[in-house]
Amino acid sequence: MNNKPLRVIDLAQEFLRPIINSGDIVVDATAGTGQDTLFLCQCVGASGQVFAFDIQAVALQQTNDLLEKSGYADQVTLIHQSHADIVPALQAVAVRKHSVKAIMFNLGYLPNGDQTIITQVETTLAALNGALSLLAAGGLITICLYPGHLGGKTESQAVISWCEALKAPFVAHHFRTLNRESPPTLVIIESMR
Ligand SMILES: C[S@@+](CC[C@H](N)C(=O)[O-])C[C@H]1O[C@@H](n2cnc3c(N)ncnc32)[C@H](O)[C@@H]1O
Repeated sequence: MNNKPLRVIDLAQEFLRPIINSGDIVVDATAGTGQDTLFLCQCVGASGQVFAFDIQAVALQQTNDLLEKSGYADQVTLIHQSHADIVPALQAVAVRKHSVKAIMFNLGYLPNGDQTIITQVETTLAALNGALSLLAAGGLITICLYPGHLGGKTESQAVISWCEALKAPFVAHHFRTLNRESPPTLVIIESMR
């Protein structure tokens, strides 16, 4: 029996695994150490395409090292740019609207990195708006929220308010632990297009 509580990131992957097919186009909006990028590579297989954003070169280096070690480096495009630019950055590599099956956001700071470099409300919401226009029918956006760090609560509340105002064809869900203080939480957005 595993004595660690469920992590939101594992939960996000559980939702994504059944809906991603080999050959799909998917995006990691916050590459960080590359764990989610690697997961996405495993889901889409050799015929799929994975795009991973981060504003920190050190994060993209860690992601690239992990992908090289795992044999997936060739199928991933690492984008050293803010995810706020998700639409123009993906248009530049010929990704069309409504063609991306999954977009993962894992907000906050780089694990074991500079904790002053965090995702910010304005750029996160810009990225989420862009992500909606890229999402394919039946696709999912996952957002792991971390209200426990400085600035995290404000960002979490902003994302939740933005989700509450979403209109069809999108449906937003919020999953949270009930008996911990400031637990990470998970938002899932479905496209019912
Ligand atoms: C919690 S970490 C992501 C963890 C990652 N998914 C993993 O598997 O390790 C958040 C990452 O978001 C990045 N980030 C912050 N602002 C960003 C932005 N505007 N655009 C893209 N990435 C950003 C940080 O540099 C950091 O690496």
